[in-house]
Amino acid sequence: MRYSTITIFATIAAACGVPAHLVEKDIPSKTAITNVHVWNGAGFSAPSTVVIIDSIITNANTADAETTVDGRGGYLMPGYIDSHCHVTSCSYLTAMRANGITTALDMGTFPVSAVTACRAEGVTDIYGTGAAGTVNGTAISKIPGFPQDSFLASPEAARTFVANRIQEGASWIKVFLDPLGPDEETLSTVVAAAHAAGIKVVTHATSYADYSEAQTAGADIPCHVPLDKPLDAASIQNLTSAHRHVVPTLIMMQSIVNNTRTPYIAYTAAAEGSVTAMNAAGVSIAVGTDANTSPYVPANPPFGTSFHAELALLVAAGLTPTQALQGATSVAAHAFGLYDRGSISPGLRADLVLLSADPTVNIANSKSIEYVWLAGVQFTPGAYLEVLLCFNRKPVRLYGENGW
Ligand SMILES: *[C@@H]1O[C@H](CO)[C@@H](O)[C@H](O)[C@H]1NC(C)=O
Ligand SMILES: *[C@@H]1O[C@H](CO)[C@@H](O)[C@H](O)[C@H]1NC(C)=O
Ligand SMILES: *[C@@H]1O[C@H](CO)[C@@H](O)[C@H](O)[C@H]1NC(C)=O
Repeated sequence: MRYSTITIFATIAAACGVPAHLVEKDIPSKTAITNVHVWNGAGFSAPSTVVIIDSIITNANTADAETTVDGRGGYLMPGYIDSHCHVTSCSYLTAMRANGITTALDMGTFPVSAVTACRAEGVTDIYGTGAAGTVNGTAISKIPGFPQDSFLASPEAARTFVANRIQEGASWIKVFLDPLGPDEETLSTVVAAAHAAGIKVVTHATSYADYSEAQTAGADIPCHVPLDKPLDAASIQNLTSAHRHVVPTLIMMQSIVNNTRTPYIAYTAAAEGSVTAMNAAGVSIAVGTDANTSPYVPANPPFGTSFHAELALLVAAGLTPTQALQGATSVAAHAFGLYDRGSISPGLRADLVLLSADPTVNIANSKSIEYVWLAGVQFTPGAYLEVLLCFNRKPVRLYGENGW
């Protein structure tokens, strides 16, 4: 028998006298969240009430609600979406959930069934690309067990790669751009095959040339930002005219610069500077961390906490807190075609985060998490801390500037 973390904590919590509703996983059929400022896509409403029935947000009234959660004047956001992570173990979803991330977009774990197998009630939802397309000899091609049908040696191989990934259940196609290849014709073939199947193409693009190559091939979503030189007006014009969404992963770029002792100007001028310029030009920016534990990449942003670090870096690069929060919710949902989430609207999945403080005033308040709902299943991050700390009989809430 497998004990869930929730069961174990519920048992300890009961011993500590923590109210059971803080830790128990249960799905009431109707929940009213009262006295909350509700995210409307561009800010917060005056205090009101949101009603959930089972896993869905509704416009039903509060009559006969089995559960009422007093939001105490807090701020209700759609659940956060991490648009770039590498969930090579389902256990990583625990830290994501505690940080308000209700959807994880995996950008390379193979086979894709390894990530879809993580889906469970009360757990961060997940989608993936499966193995990225690349050529023999790149860093990712050396990961043990890397599937050979992801080697893009020719347009013919590109067609097989796309067909195989789609058959496996990939939600998007990912291509790793690198000086080694694939060549332009092969990349264009990947894009054409994916688009013919109605699927978007995500690229790993960490240089100015990678961005140009991606744009020339018509690839949809560039991930990362250049570390060699900032995107210029010509490059950004390509992004705006094609209405591209970009996932900069600034926390990854900054961590790479630090870990490889690259002069810090590579971060400030190229990476951060590209985000500043793209945002000023109106490019839609989604929040992704590149959280991973791989020994094959130069940095390993931690799961969960790095999401809040990314929000802060995007704001430092010039996004308003509201734009960064859109990148964490509606912009991400739109970019990746997840139309059942990303907003607080009737009919959408009840993926929600209740904050105690206004994140549009200070983006660090994105961490002031009171409760998380995952398709209507309530989770209380604070309960973990209270349970751990109750051994001292000193329940304390640790969040906000201290992070966790
Ligand atoms: C990839 O390159 C390695 C080293 O050159 C070689 O041993 C291997 O056979 C190549 N794999 C494919 C699929 O071409
Ligand atoms: C802009 O896109 C065109 C093709 O649409 C491409 O040829 C060109 O290289 C791109 N320029 C930059 C700077 O990305
Ligand atoms: C990288 O180094 C800069 C400058 O020293 C520092 O401000 C920043 O916090 C570091 N970032 C990471 C992710 O370690």
